[in-house]
Amino acid sequence: MYWPSRTGVTRRPSTAFPDFPAAESDPLKTVRTIPALREMLRAWKHAGEAVAIVPTLGNLHEGHISLVELARRQADRVVVSVFVNPTQFGPGEDYQAYPRTLDHDRRRLMRAGADLLFAPAVDVVYPRGEDSATVVSVPGLSDILCGGFRPGHFDGVTSVVSRLFNIVQPDFAVFGQKDYQQLTIIRRMQADLHFPVGIIAGPTLREPDGLALSSRNQYLSDAERGIAPNLYRAVSECGDRLRAGARDYAALETHGMATLVAAGFRPDYFAVRNADDLSPAQAMDRRLVVLVAAHLGRARLIDNQLVDL
Ligand code: PAF
Repeated sequence: MYWPSRTGVTRRPSTAFPDFPAAESDPLKTVRTIPALREMLRAWKHAGEAVAIVPTLGNLHEGHISLVELARRQADRVVVSVFVNPTQFGPGEDYQAYPRTLDHDRRRLMRAGADLLFAPAVDVVYPRGEDSATVVSVPGLSDILCGGFRPGHFDGVTSVVSRLFNIVQPDFAVFGQKDYQQLTIIRRMQADLHFPVGIIAGPTLREPDGLALSSRNQYLSDAERGIAPNLYRAVSECGDRLRAGARDYAALETHGMATLVAAGFRPDYFAVRNADDLSPAQAMDRRLVVLVAAHLGRARLIDNQLVDL
């Protein structure tokens, strides 16, 4: 199993970032520490208010904002975490380069009506260092599809999300459906560990040409940006074929891979799976999901489409 020592990331020295000074009129409080966060939460919980969390890596775009809006419809208070979690990045991945845009994120969240921004340093989340931290792992589901190509990635995700659940103790947590495997794994973790948190899935937001919104789209050159919507077209075509009665899943997957290679991608996988447990699709399945991951230049893009038969 990979764990962050292999990211080659040196730990930052222990830091106690001050909380952002909030103007009287600034409705979005930004906190860096767990005690400051808990002080805010205490008052809300005392008043009987329901709290939702939207966990993010930051560099927020419209897709994240739609999750905040969904959270606002579900709960009285919305906490957004912005934390570039080192334990979910593998060696050679973009941990160091991942865009850190906290001021921009703060402005967007203020406009979106979030109540609290939690932006902890690494040693707040992993006080004994991320290399020797307790790992929360969902076996099986974490090792397939993206997990097969990014070993340890989902252990990093479940390790940080479980910590955020314990730190914030939210009533609800909102995750994007674009990261369908992540959502499935978090649902399993929530059920297995009896977290009293309702998991809510937010629909994928797309550009007009179908490309799913993602922070990693900014890695695409102009030429690659022109190719990128073919990912969505390929999963949509597969979804249409399934709805039209196609049941040769292996042939659909082979066709999907070939389409992507022809368009200029380096696909990791193109898979038709059971939408509940991500097992290979069977003839009796009524809810399927088509999942894809493919490299295009510097970017690794993912997409999916649910298919109800
Ligand atoms: O989907 C993401 O942005 C991240 O994986 C998450 C859920 C915030 C955990 O770091």
